[in-house]
Amino acid sequence: MAENFQERIAKLRQEIVRHDRLYYVDNAPEISDGQYDSLFAELKELEAERPELVTADSPTQRVSERPIDGFASIRHAAAMLSIDNTYNADELRKFDERVRKGLESDDFEYVVELKIDGLAVNLRYEEGKLVSAATRGDGAVGDDVTSNVRTIRAVPLSLAGVGWPGVLEARGEVYMPKKSFARLNELRQEAEESLFANPRNAAAGSLKLLDPRITAGRNLSFFAYATGQVSEGLADNHYDSLMAFKKLGLAVNPNVQKAKNINEAIEICAGWHERRYELDYQVDGMVIKVNRYDQQSILGSTGRAPRWCISYKFPAERAKTVVTSIDVQVGKSGILTPVANFEPVQLAGTMVKRASLHNFDEVARLDVREGDSVLIEKAGEIIPQVVEVLKDERLDGSKALELPVECPNCHGAIARDENGVYIRCLNPECGGQFKELLKYFAGRDQMDIENLGASLIEQLVDVGLVKNFADLYKLTKEQLTALERMAEKSADNVIKAIEKSKAQPLWRFLAALGIRHIGSQSAQILAEHFGSLQAIRDADEETLAGVDQIGPVMAKSIYDYFRNADSVKIIDELLAAGVKAEHESMRKSDVLVGKTIVVTGTLETMTRDQAKQAIVEAGGKVSSSVSKKTDYVLAGKEAGSKLDKAVALGVTVIDEQQFIEMIG
Ligand code: IVH
Repeated sequence: MAENFQERIAKLRQEIVRHDRLYYVDNAPEISDGQYDSLFAELKELEAERPELVTADSPTQRVSERPIDGFASIRHAAAMLSIDNTYNADELRKFDERVRKGLESDDFEYVVELKIDGLAVNLRYEEGKLVSAATRGDGAVGDDVTSNVRTIRAVPLSLAGVGWPGVLEARGEVYMPKKSFARLNELRQEAEESLFANPRNAAAGSLKLLDPRITAGRNLSFFAYATGQVSEGLADNHYDSLMAFKKLGLAVNPNVQKAKNINEAIEICAGWHERRYELDYQVDGMVIKVNRYDQQSILGSTGRAPRWCISYKFPAERAKTVVTSIDVQVGKSGILTPVANFEPVQLAGTMVKRASLHNFDEVARLDVREGDSVLIEKAGEIIPQVVEVLKDERLDGSKALELPVECPNCHGAIARDENGVYIRCLNPECGGQFKELLKYFAGRDQMDIENLGASLIEQLVDVGLVKNFADLYKLTKEQLTALERMAEKSADNVIKAIEKSKAQPLWRFLAALGIRHIGSQSAQILAEHFGSLQAIRDADEETLAGVDQIGPVMAKSIYDYFRNADSVKIIDELLAAGVKAEHESMRKSDVLVGKTIVVTGTLETMTRDQAKQAIVEAGGKVSSSVSKKTDYVLAGKEAGSKLDKAVALGVTVIDEQQFIEMIG
């Protein structure tokens, strides 16, 4: 039975909200990202056809279409207080004594939570709808960040269930998961933008962007941990309020625990010292709260922080070590990066031996030298960095690092980027640069050539067997076995892995080329948009820059790359060697291969986008205009000029039923 239009829209919204909830609140997703995206795409399509049916709380309305002018202020209905910190068990026991004294009783329990390292926001729901979101600011007045917070899928635009209070303020932490943080910094590095020091700064920076479309791409998330103003209380204690939050569709951290007394609370805190590294997000400590609200009121607050709540901060995860040497490495785009090597030291769950010093301005700022004792930290618990040089411990006669005068690898000329911090090797034939580029090409996120490791790549380049990407595909088993430490079996495996990589899809191939500013994310966008390598090669700068999320800098970089005679020659050689570079991520059958189809009019059992997707999945090509080259026109109801043109040109017209039979 075909649903009517409005029913389908309502159903899709309900499903999307349900899946958001399964993912963020219940931690139990039922569908893949791809399936989610297709529900979303269908809803968008339907709403585009009937804009009058769009509501503010539709999942498609999370991201506003244009940037905002600035951030207005919001005065908090109830002050947003801070929390006092403690750093050890003794201080926690003192807190407990104060609580017992204040309550004149031992009859109370604690709730112990993770202290999420992000930034606090107050979400205000009126009649179940999200009406505003504000940062803490000075505690009394914060910034109105509603447009940006609406883009966070863990924040429901409407409360679930029934029986919510007319006014409900939920407070919680907006945070950026560790992986998203590392990925964001990777992309920023690729784009040669400044890096965020930690996930908290990244989250704060992302909430303070004027363009919610960019915030939407930052993968922020949210956990609720307190109430602000409420017209009717949800429960008489904190723990039950959190459980009620969950029922209303608000994401609550799953690791909330009750503790009967301070010893139990201390034990829970201690348990998280090491386990915190297993979490997907960064936590900087624990928060301990008296559970019952009546007891919280008795304890009250100092102007700054409540007396019923305390944070236990994990010891700053820093390690002291010695810089044994500073290397200068040349990267795949020629950038010279100073890297500090350390005496190995254990930090945040792993052994650390080196850290990038990013660029020579950073070396000068830190004034870090060989032989120095330094303190290191891990940004986002992942990326090791030097945070401080212990100058008091500096050895006599130490010398500041000199700026390089030539490429440490090829000894070619170098130059500092115009207005930039990077120093670059200018030699396009620099072997060091090429080795890095080749490692990147073969890497897991690119062509994924399993048995082609870093040391083999170095050998292949050093002996002159591989001078460009295409040479890889010309390697023979005999050439490989002639190399040092290369047995016949390994040589076979390498050849097989190289052979296998020929079938990698277009986006991986594009990403593998190492075009400046183009990482795997932008490569995927380009592949999806253009559908073939040829179309990307042919595109002019304006067309490229017009693609969603591909800015002018990327567009110029791609355009220039495909106009460079050397790159073009190598790409043609790669294709001639059998590298396919086909966009096939969506292909499910071959029944429409070689066919170009135009879709027009209103279809009954599917939207036009679904029909287009089905065409692509069957290997066909979708076109928006009818010409002699069009194989079929799929015409629904009220098809207009495209149908007329098809008839005039003698192009075969098919209806929905025929189309469905065709694609099976
Ligand atoms: S409760 C009055 N619970 O830590 C108490 N705060 O250092 C309100 N934070 O401003 C806050 N995780 O941004 C609470 N589970 C948690 C938390 C948490 C992180 C943040 C919050 C607060 C800051 C204080």
